[in-house]
Amino acid sequence: MEFPRKLDDIRVDYPDAPPHVPRDRIVDISFAMGGVPNDLVDPYAPFEWLNGADIPRLLFNKPSMSALGAAAGGSMSGNWVVTHYEDIDRVYCDNDHFSNKGTAEFQRLIGETFPSIPLAIDPPEHTKYRMFLVPFLSPARITRDLEPRIREVVDEMIDAIADKGEVDMAWDFARVFPVRIFMGLMGFPKEMFDDFLEWEWNILHSGSLEKMQWALRNVLQFLRGFIAEKEKNPDEHLTSSIVHGKINGQPLTDDEKIGMVWFLWLGGLDTVAATISQMYRRMALQPEIQTMIREHPELINGAVEEFLRTQPILSSGRRATKDFEWHGVQIKAGDSFSCLNPAGNFDPTRFKNPREFDPTRKGNRHFTLVAGVHSCLGGHLARRELRVLLEQWFKRIPEFRVKPGADTSVFPGLLSIRNLPLVWDVK
Ligand code: HEM
Repeated sequence: MEFPRKLDDIRVDYPDAPPHVPRDRIVDISFAMGGVPNDLVDPYAPFEWLNGADIPRLLFNKPSMSALGAAAGGSMSGNWVVTHYEDIDRVYCDNDHFSNKGTAEFQRLIGETFPSIPLAIDPPEHTKYRMFLVPFLSPARITRDLEPRIREVVDEMIDAIADKGEVDMAWDFARVFPVRIFMGLMGFPKEMFDDFLEWEWNILHSGSLEKMQWALRNVLQFLRGFIAEKEKNPDEHLTSSIVHGKINGQPLTDDEKIGMVWFLWLGGLDTVAATISQMYRRMALQPEIQTMIREHPELINGAVEEFLRTQPILSSGRRATKDFEWHGVQIKAGDSFSCLNPAGNFDPTRFKNPREFDPTRKGNRHFTLVAGVHSCLGGHLARRELRVLLEQWFKRIPEFRVKPGADTSVFPGLLSIRNLPLVWDVK
């Protein structure tokens, strides 16, 4: 696939654009939204030029409306696209002008009205939900309650493959490991593993309204039943803590319970899996990263941060709360914004040698886990899973490579890579 390389390549006509949008800003940015695969070592490289000094600070994307886009907070009439670090930072951090209402509320597709909590709630209300959930996912809680289990699962999974000399890293490892941890955290029954992955795949990746609705009905029916079960039989896991939780001394409402459990379910399943798959693809295609981590395990924390920065699997959206002017352009209340993290995370005004994988990078404040009040609540857990995996992996597995003949094309986003067969020499 030939990717566009300059503004003129993506300029399009869109006579129905809202009248306040300057016509020379209208583009089709769909190539940069993670839906087009490529086979580059750095699969996010084709979007780099969008953060250039010569690119207007606000572009306007012609809508390519899908059910998925609408449910993810997209707009039927198009959206502003933000590609420079400083501007993305403002959209994520300026809650006075930008709102998260409606973001990732796929449940609307089946007529549900409860909000996704805490993601789709704006401050100041957001704070009480965030404060309620933070202790369950804090670094201290992860060290105490989750890290032993993370290590156990990683060791068990590595044991099962070390002597075989091969694994489908995406399908048999990345897809499984974080979901096992997450299900333990929430207290979900192990038997739900296959159903969960099938439902999640249909909601996020099927692109079919019917399949999304089928999966949404199933997951919400299951989660409501599970919440009801935990009402009767409390346990020490997170779903039960939510069900029996109190905010400002008040028990949570039914909408609050399902809103939190549902959004954790959505946020916790696929994200780490996609990150692990892309991380191993990058290491297999660029073996000097393997050598660096093997010889310098003290760089693992920095390496995880670099994998996150260079693999921005999600780009987040917001809506304008009011009319205002920005970069000489009129913004209207309700206008939709899409922040292109694959451009922002490589902005040379913020990151020196942005395309270089550098685990010693200082001040690595990237957008993969967003910025501002909605920064990923599962970020500490995700980082710990990635760190423990790298620590244990490099103690056991020698240099690995992609199995000859395997297709390494990847969707630079959450869709990622379905199969990644890796091989190594067994002594
Ligand atoms: C590498 C893995 C992950 C990535 C890349 C990721 C990415 C993100 C992003 C981009 C957001 C903000 C979305 C927005 O503001 O529009 C977010 C929020 C969130 N994530 Fe994650 N996530 C990951 C793992 C997880 C995990 C494992 C969990 C659950 C255990 C989780 C739970 C959440 C929650 C609850 C929020 C909402 C926070 C708030 O609104 O205050 N995430 N995540």
